[in-house]
Amino acid sequence: MENTKIRLEPVTANNWKACIALELALDQEGFVPSNLYSIAESQFYPDARSTAIYNERDQLVGYVLWGRDIFANKWKIFRVMIDKSHQRQGYGKSAISAIIARIAQEPDGHEILISYQNDNEIARRLYAKLGFIEQEIDPEGKVTALWQQVV
Ligand SMILES: CC(C)(COP(=O)(O)OP(=O)(O)OC[C@H]1O[C@@H](n2cnc3c(N)ncnc32)[C@H](O)[C@@H]1OP(=O)(O)O)[C@@H](O)C(=O)NCCC(=O)NCCS
Repeated sequence: MENTKIRLEPVTANNWKACIALELALDQEGFVPSNLYSIAESQFYPDARSTAIYNERDQLVGYVLWGRDIFANKWKIFRVMIDKSHQRQGYGKSAISAIIARIAQEPDGHEILISYQNDNEIARRLYAKLGFIEQEIDPEGKVTALWQQVV
């Protein structure tokens, strides 16, 4: 699982329709906005990177939106999803690990924010395993967690 191979590619004219066709299980749909929404939103934030996740067989398996949070002035993984038919194969964990490694190369890349809903136990466990420490829960039930590079 740890070494599941994934490849990150920007969302472009060639793959955006495939990205919006990715699906979650019904009970997961409330955890993240649709990929169509995220791709639209990312157009208005030049520092947000709308990213497609491919597996070792070159299949599109997921989508992740990450970049600079202009409000917190920090790097942030805004949201991530893996298509329901490709979950539990290590792709989510590998994609987030790859983004952490990428951000860690950037100036100011020693801290990364992530957020998820308080009732999203899978996300909580996954991010905790990757080193994110919960910071706060807002009144709407959104948890913010922080990863810090160990020096
Ligand atoms: C969260 C999500 C991205 C994880 O993707 P994934 O590729 O299925 O996760 P992985 O296979 O990399 O698993 C990561 C860890 O989570 C655990 N996990 C994943 N799905 C799980 C499930 N349905 N039940 C219990 N544990 C689960 C695994 O045990 C794994 O830990 P391990 O490697 O130590 O065994 C995916 O479940 C998803 O798209 N969820 C809906 C959207 C969402 O909630 N996004 C996060 C909030 S922004």
